[in-house]
Amino acid sequence: MKKPAILVARAVFPEVLTQLEQHFEVAANQGDTLWTPAELIERLQGKQGAFTTGSERIDAALLAACPELKICANMAVGYNNFDLAAMTDAGVKASNTPDVLTETTADFGFALLMATARRMAESEHFLRAGRWKSWRYDLFAGAEVHGSTLGILGMGRIGQGIAKRGAHGFGMKVIYHNRSRLDAATEVLCGASYVSKADLLKQADHLMLVLPYSPEAQHAIGATELAQMKPTATLVNIARGGIVDDAALAQALKNRVIAAAGLDVFEGEPALHPDLLTVPNVVLTPHIASATLPTRRAMAQLAADNLVGFLLHGKALTPLN
Ligand code: GLV
Repeated sequence: MKKPAILVARAVFPEVLTQLEQHFEVAANQGDTLWTPAELIERLQGKQGAFTTGSERIDAALLAACPELKICANMAVGYNNFDLAAMTDAGVKASNTPDVLTETTADFGFALLMATARRMAESEHFLRAGRWKSWRYDLFAGAEVHGSTLGILGMGRIGQGIAKRGAHGFGMKVIYHNRSRLDAATEVLCGASYVSKADLLKQADHLMLVLPYSPEAQHAIGATELAQMKPTATLVNIARGGIVDDAALAQALKNRVIAAAGLDVFEGEPALHPDLLTVPNVVLTPHIASATLPTRRAMAQLAADNLVGFLLHGKALTPLN
């Protein structure tokens, strides 16, 4: 029997590709070329499955041009590159990679919080530039982390992982805001209390964004919200670009409306708002929150398993529709 044809849209672990080749006719992109939407459509012709990452936009126009497509398996937990309603309408299955990246991403969120609060990037640049001449009582004095108030916006699996680290590891008071409140037992497990968004902004010493992107979340943190935060506060975004108004944030950092920010995701990434590169009080990382090799392997494996599960056995492991 003829094997189903799939496209692996970006470079992937060679061993995952070898596995996929056992089940499918695979068109790969190990050169990791970034295709235009038109090139992606061209490469998808005759393919029943696609292994995608957050970089490939799957929308109604693409679906209409690729009538044989049956499933897109995203190697990411976020799926704002998918027009899920259009995929459902077109009868195309969508899947993501939840759970396997939760703890690694929570680790990174905490690392970025620590680096931001304790001014690690700024002080390292100072040192590398040969500007360190002597110890000084207030040299790169940052914000306290232990015992401070950690605010979490978005309390899914990753938010809960960060809450546990803060409450149980660093003795922080943890407050959160989410579309829906957690049940009491989960709140106790996370050491977290539910507050309104206004109280979260007002009370947090460190505000961590972990909510999924949706059109309603666009600029959930803009000039108005930043003005409600403490001038000593730090903001960390490991969620998605667009949730923060990066232009407003750069302005707020420059004017010390808040003390510092740590950003792993950006509006229009990999492009950055140019003002973010000129303010010293921001730690910038290139969308690497889930990037450890074991976790990235687990994500790739789950995306591959979704393709095998759906195209060969009619059932994706972690479907979105
Ligand atoms: C990364 O941003 C992901 O959604 O997995």
